[in-house]
Amino acid sequence: MTKTYTADEVAKHNKAGDCWIIIEGKVYDVSNFLKEHPGGQKVVLKLAGKDATKEFKNLHGPDVLPKYAPQLLIGEIGSSVAKVCIFILFVYACRMHQNKSQKQNKKMIKHSVS
Ligand code: HEM
Repeated sequence: MTKTYTADEVAKHNKAGDCWIIIEGKVYDVSNFLKEHPGGQKVVLKLAGKDATKEFKNLHGPDVLPKYAPQLLIGEIGSSVAKVCIFILFVYACRMHQNKSQKQNKKMIKHSVS
């Protein structure tokens, strides 16, 4: 399963030796790649811990990420809003199920009394 991170978690990895960046919602650990980066370390470090989608797309062709992802991709950004929505839906579904069983129980009691 893909690991999910929040933007705040990624933001902590913002220096040489511990450098993550976000590109199109995916998280890349470029700590060890910095030294080999053809564009140099400085440009990447400026965006360390941040979303670099715009800058990346401006400077790289579409074949770069597929080539380097196997070695650098560590996960994706998970939306906490989405997590909350799923939780609310789950609670709602449980409630509905509970109500249905209560109604069925009442019906059964009524039926057995009459
Ligand atoms: C996963 C992260 C990254 C990978 C794998 C990567 C890879 C590469 C590669 C392979 C090149 C050589 C040119 C090419 O093939 O397009 C390159 C050049 C370059 N990259 Fe990156 N890069 C990454 C992130 C970044 C970021 C965040 C920046 C920040 C702006 C950046 C700035 C540059 C620059 C300025 C060049 C030189 C462009 C040129 O000389 O025309 N890169 N990068």
